Amino acid sequence: MEIVLSGIRPTGNLHLGNYFGAIQNFNKMQYENKCFFFIADYHSLTTHPTPDDLHKNVKHVLVEYLASGLDPEIATIYIQSDLPETAELYLLLNMNAYLGELERVTSFKEKIRKQPDNINAGLLTYPTLMAADIIIHKASKVPVGKDQEQHLEMTRTFAKRFNRLYKVDYFPEPEAYNFGENLIKIPGLDGSGKMGKSEGEANAIFLVDEPAIIRKKIMRAVTDSGPTEMNQQKPVAIENLFTIMKAVSSPDTVSYFNELYNTCNIRYGDMKKQLAEDIITFTSPLREKILELSADNDYLKKVVKLGKEKAHESASKTIKEVREIIGFRPF
Ligand code: TRP
Repeated sequence: MEIVLSGIRPTGNLHLGNYFGAIQNFNKMQYENKCFFFIADYHSLTTHPTPDDLHKNVKHVLVEYLASGLDPEIATIYIQSDLPETAELYLLLNMNAYLGELERVTSFKEKIRKQPDNINAGLLTYPTLMAADIIIHKASKVPVGKDQEQHLEMTRTFAKRFNRLYKVDYFPEPEAYNFGENLIKIPGLDGSGKMGKSEGEANAIFLVDEPAIIRKKIMRAVTDSGPTEMNQQKPVAIENLFTIMKAVSSPDTVSYFNELYNTCNIRYGDMKKQLAEDIITFTSPLREKILELSADNDYLKKVVKLGKEKAHESASKTIKEVREIIGFRPF
């Protein structure tokens, strides 16, 4: 049984891309491993959210994780800021993290380009905080997307460096958890890249979206003027709609529209209507659960408390041992 840890920055509601790209696989993963799922609210402070937004977004992720089937009794579901041991380990790791290596991180260089007026130290040391998240539980596997691979590499560097510096074999070097073929990348509705809300609200279908909104978003999804040759290759925007359809519709439905496309008989309006209804069928039970959980603060409070206790149990052991290794000794 591996120790698996996954973190997500709370930035709003979860969408179909989050669901198929990660959460759906977590459901199975949690029974096969010792899993930690945490909400990275310390990390989200790099963008300076208002206190209300911060809290609201943490609640969204918590509720939507639970509604999607993550089980707080089986896995450890917690909020990063409930675990100050992480902040302590972050401080300690920062003493052995070098400016040069932190400045070379791709995501940091991108931030400099995109938001030159807010290059804070939290952004620079984002990888040390992420490393602390992971090694505080001595996790061996971390499900990460391509954009986080370099951060995981840094985590290995910091773990190895600690072991070498103190001549111990203490921290394991975490590897990426690979979902293999089960990983479904859901594209957005704007005819280009993956689903995400940074590309605009209309590019993503959120789990909590009402049926009328889903219909509207799908009907407005980018298409083209239609195929002109038999069996012609689908342009990206069309391929994207088929990819979403494969995730939510029956195989028969997919082949039906595929056939219509290949014979130049497709009417995108019909396909979109079907797609919208199949998405609604898929998300409706989730949406109901989300609304129910959102109103049940007593339950959420219990879940958060339980997660905090379980996470603390594992983290406090690590911090105690790390303090001894470093030489913070009691008199
Ligand atoms: N950096 C991750 C993201 O933006 C979130 C994250 C923070 C994380 N700490 C983590 C992911 C630890 C995995 C492990 O998506």
